[in-house]
Amino acid sequence: MTARVLSLPGDGIGPEVVASARRVLDAAAGKLGLELEWEEALIGGAAIDAEGTALSPETLSRARAADAVLLGAVGGPRWDDPSAPVRPEQGLLGLRKALGLYANLRHIAAHPALADASPLRPERVRGVDILFVRELTGGIYFGEPRVREPTRAVDTLVYTDVEVRRVARLAFTLARGRRRRVTSVDKANVLASSRLWRDVVVEVAREFPDVALEHQLVDSAAMRLVTHAASFDVIVTENMFGDILTDEAAVLPGSLGLCPSASIGDAKGGLYEPIHGSAPDIAGQDVANPIGTIGSAALLCRHSLGRDDVAALIEQAVSRALHAGARTRDLGGALGTAAMTEAVLEHL
Ligand code: NAD
Ligand code: IPM
Ligand code: MN
Repeated sequence: MTARVLSLPGDGIGPEVVASARRVLDAAAGKLGLELEWEEALIGGAAIDAEGTALSPETLSRARAADAVLLGAVGGPRWDDPSAPVRPEQGLLGLRKALGLYANLRHIAAHPALADASPLRPERVRGVDILFVRELTGGIYFGEPRVREPTRAVDTLVYTDVEVRRVARLAFTLARGRRRRVTSVDKANVLASSRLWRDVVVEVAREFPDVALEHQLVDSAAMRLVTHAASFDVIVTENMFGDILTDEAAVLPGSLGLCPSASIGDAKGGLYEPIHGSAPDIAGQDVANPIGTIGSAALLCRHSLGRDDVAALIEQAVSRALHAGARTRDLGGALGTAAMTEAVLEHL
């Protein structure tokens, strides 16, 4: 069976890191007899420029038809005008929502070869292995009303019990394959939506008596991430808390550029993208770290194509390249995007 993968390179460093991940995925697939059929489309600022919209109906229907989507990043200063009618980020949010991808899995783990790459002291990083389950299609990102007036603006944080229950169930289920501890992160001392969140998570926990549950407020969870991160196993949290905490957690392994993600829902198909953005400050210079996107391609094979073997081959090659000393600039090295890609290919 041929797997259909839609590539959405997007903006900034997106096209550079997606090209790198495609090369690695094609090579790994070739070795293990996985047939891939690639398609490509525009999203974000590139789509606004060429098609007048950040996500065209054609691109969305191709994403629906594909077995999986590999995305780079969207956005950049060119499209940042606050009065612009459409923003690149709407394309990505619209895609997540339309595909029903309510859970964004962001696995953050210390890599033994990168002990010196983190700005944090080695003892703060040692043993870190956290699976973030970020709710992705609810919360303040999608709540109505959303209003902008000259001197007043409104955003709305809404959750329903159904939205919380399904992402909590996924977090507990995934914890069963790990160390069986879930930390639910909220702001229940202030927000009504967080008090609902907490109630529903407690209810779900009863279905999983073998998994330990703790609650933590988001502000102190942010601190614990840089002081005792190894004490976390699975963290399940609201959309925006998850967005912020995962960028913070990315300093543990050493760089935002290392971190992959998988966005999944109940239907087949999924969206795979690094957790970083379009990095306009380094775009077009062949210095972006492609490992987050290469890792996302591995997750694509595992979660959407049922090819754990291809995923493992890619992850092993990345790990070996890092052990051999391959480092991009964000990790204190000198390799460019293309050279880092070559290093991974050499170890495949
Ligand atoms: P960013 O993640 O793009 O960059 C933050 C910092 O990390 C920058 O210094 C950048 O150079 C560095 N960085 C990011 N990825 C890197 C990589 N692979 N290798 C080396 N260094 C890397 O965040 P930002 O600057 O706040 O946002 C820029 C644009 O990206 C905004 O328009 C934002 O909306 C968008 N964005 C998109 C996504 C996405 O598409 N999923 C995610 C985050 C931000
Ligand atoms: C991410 C990004 C997006 C988000 C933006 C670009 C909409 O920061 O994927 O982490 O906030 O979800
Ligand atoms: Mn983010």
